[in-house]
Amino acid sequence: MNSVRSQLSSINYRFLRRLIIMQQSLLKKDLEGAIIVGDKINHLLMNSPFKHLFKFSIPNNIGTYLYDLNFPSPIIAASFKDDISALLQWQFVGIGGITYKTVLKNPSEGNKRPRIQEVSYNGSYALLNSLGLPTKGVDNFVNHFEHEQLLSFNRPIGISIGGDSVADYVQVFESINSKVESSPFNQFFYEINISCPNTEDGKCLSDDLNQLAFLLTKMRSLSSKVIVVKTSPDSNDNEILKICEILSSLDKSAINVGNTRYVSVESVGLKPNHFSKPGGGLSGPPLFNSTLERVKLINSNFKIPIIATGGIGNYDQVKAIIDSGARLIGMASRLVIDPFIIPQINNKLSHEEILIYQRHES
Ligand SMILES: Cc1cc2nc3c(=O)[nH]c(=O)nc-3n(C[C@H](O)[C@H](O)[C@H](O)COP(=O)(O)O)c2cc1C
Repeated sequence: MNSVRSQLSSINYRFLRRLIIMQQSLLKKDLEGAIIVGDKINHLLMNSPFKHLFKFSIPNNIGTYLYDLNFPSPIIAASFKDDISALLQWQFVGIGGITYKTVLKNPSEGNKRPRIQEVSYNGSYALLNSLGLPTKGVDNFVNHFEHEQLLSFNRPIGISIGGDSVADYVQVFESINSKVESSPFNQFFYEINISCPNTEDGKCLSDDLNQLAFLLTKMRSLSSKVIVVKTSPDSNDNEILKICEILSSLDKSAINVGNTRYVSVESVGLKPNHFSKPGGGLSGPPLFNSTLERVKLINSNFKIPIIATGGIGNYDQVKAIIDSGARLIGMASRLVIDPFIIPQINNKLSHEEILIYQRHES
């Protein structure tokens, strides 16, 4: 019953999404217009009795954990949205946990539009974005992140932190942490966004691992929450292994592979006037193979828990990634296209032979 309902919902959702995109692109080629309309419709739905149509229960045999965090499903929403209605919708459809979009110290509008487009890369569907981390800033975030309805699901909630310097990261972390420490909700975790396909000078924390180690030690001295480092597919294997080494000596840490991959506008067949930057972060199916390879590389060299993000969007991919050693699966682009894939994957996970990392395992 749940399975038929989720498949029908998928068809309706994808149809409606396509209609909105077509209607919006009649005016201007800019996916963001369609996203804004979609978010508004979703906001209306999530504040109406119809929100219960989105409700799917999570089978009780697919839960996993990361230290003291309990995920009822291994599929989590990657950091890319801070719109509460979207985060709520994913909770309703059965996501195992969510991650807030990266928070920066100061409010920022991000880059100029158009800055997100649907594209084709090597023949597959993908998204290209150069949003440039638009954010309302940390002062706004600390007043809103403990959203009552989001917390009521009692599923882990990641807080993604970014910055232009270590001092920025520390300041954002300290502002949030004072609230987190006094919160009765004990399923928060931190994610450090060290990749930066969109910053002006191209410099990131991943370029200076001493600074990263300093930041992590500082955070650990102030918080006992799980700390995840989210890496970039643009880093090479050596850099990733060095980050794993740092994480291996940090309590309650995990690695997330990975973020979007930088590509040029020409490589995805976009005209320069359809994108405000010469390139941006590619996401979606073209990232899958490199995500899988990274999971295998880390799993064969280190024992740290792995969150795999990048190009994952169906049950077979989830299975391949979990079989290769990942604990959790992050999704972004697939949730944009069709959040109803979540109950379908959850349902399959509960029926198939797959070794989800469970607490009773020896
Ligand atoms: C529109 C958009 C915005 C994103 N914003 C963030 C962000 O704020 N912080 C972050 O760590 N990753 C961000 N990401 C990257 C995603 O979290 C994810 O790592 C990436 O899209 C690869 O996963 P996917 O192939 O499932 O989309 C963003 C991705 C997209 C498409």
